[in-house]
Amino acid sequence: MDASQSQELDFEIRASAAPVSAERRAQMLVAPGFGSVFTDHMATVRWTEGAGWHDARIEPYGPITLDPAAAVFHYGQEIFEGLKAYVQADGSIAAFRPQANAARFNRSAARMAMPQLPERLFVRAIELLVAQDRDWVPTADGHSLYLRPFMIATQTGLGVNNPSSSYRFSVIASPVAGYFGGAVRPVTVWLSEDYSRAAPGGTGEAKCGGNYAAAFAGQRQALEHGCEQVVWLDAAQRQWVEEMGGMNLFFVYGAGPSARIVTPVPTGSLLHGMTRDSLLKLGPDLGIPASEERISVAEWQRACAAGDMTEAFACGTAAVITPVGAVRSTGAEWTIGDGGTGPVTTRLREELVGIQYGSRPDRYGWMHPIR
Ligand code: COI
Repeated sequence: MDASQSQELDFEIRASAAPVSAERRAQMLVAPGFGSVFTDHMATVRWTEGAGWHDARIEPYGPITLDPAAAVFHYGQEIFEGLKAYVQADGSIAAFRPQANAARFNRSAARMAMPQLPERLFVRAIELLVAQDRDWVPTADGHSLYLRPFMIATQTGLGVNNPSSSYRFSVIASPVAGYFGGAVRPVTVWLSEDYSRAAPGGTGEAKCGGNYAAAFAGQRQALEHGCEQVVWLDAAQRQWVEEMGGMNLFFVYGAGPSARIVTPVPTGSLLHGMTRDSLLKLGPDLGIPASEERISVAEWQRACAAGDMTEAFACGTAAVITPVGAVRSTGAEWTIGDGGTGPVTTRLREELVGIQYGSRPDRYGWMHPIR
């Protein structure tokens, strides 16, 4: 079954018999943190060989029961997405670029030998879930509803000759505040010299759980060295900067009218982030030229020392745009610009967030209304 198939599945709506009370929900929305509060419902669609996608429903949020021999537990055949829905300035709700996430989901599925999910079905699941749980979309400044679509292999059996013959696609929703806690503040990053995140021909471009499982050891080292995040280098030469934790990186060269932004060129092993893609378009429209280039660790350090590089920031759905203030590795440590949040980072963040919350014009048609 391919993604272009315009299969229209009717979702059965099974409303929760015990939704969280309005009073309790209001308490939970005060300081939701990131990914620890969930709404009353989830969307689920199943796929089996021969039958394709079926059993689409919105149902009460709750545990998933699987056979202990289900493929996902043993071979990690799993992919996911991350996107957000926002309360707009006029009180309506809109999701940011869900079609782009649907397309990336299918690229991840292809790499992991999983079935293609029609884009319409991906977007419909999101529309129905957010509409069902619209009271959970937070209205506090900077808060949003983080949506986590994922697909898991459910076939029972330990053979590895063929990919699973059955899958479950689900979407869960989590009201969130900032990923790095309260106010936007610069993070310090650790250059991972012991571990690689991904290699050419591997799964680095896919948004699969295994990439994140493999990243924990590097992230732990970062924390042990007093850094918030790990930065991954290319696996072959260990000198080209790829991405940061679960986010993409941008570098700002120059300042004022001569500022330009640069992000590592996709080499097959880094994730094509939606925020990354959006900034590559937004930057030039704001008069900030944007390009994809290879940046080495040596160049990063040199450009900061020479004052050529004035700012750096990470970007992702969860992180939005988060400044990077300093870099640390076993043999070196340096500050980027003055170590604070620079004007280009702030300008891009304000513009992007303004579009997402509907206070700035959406010139690109990125916002998808939820009715
Ligand atoms: C996202 O920004 O949606 C991500 O995927 C990061 C996440 C793993 C926390």
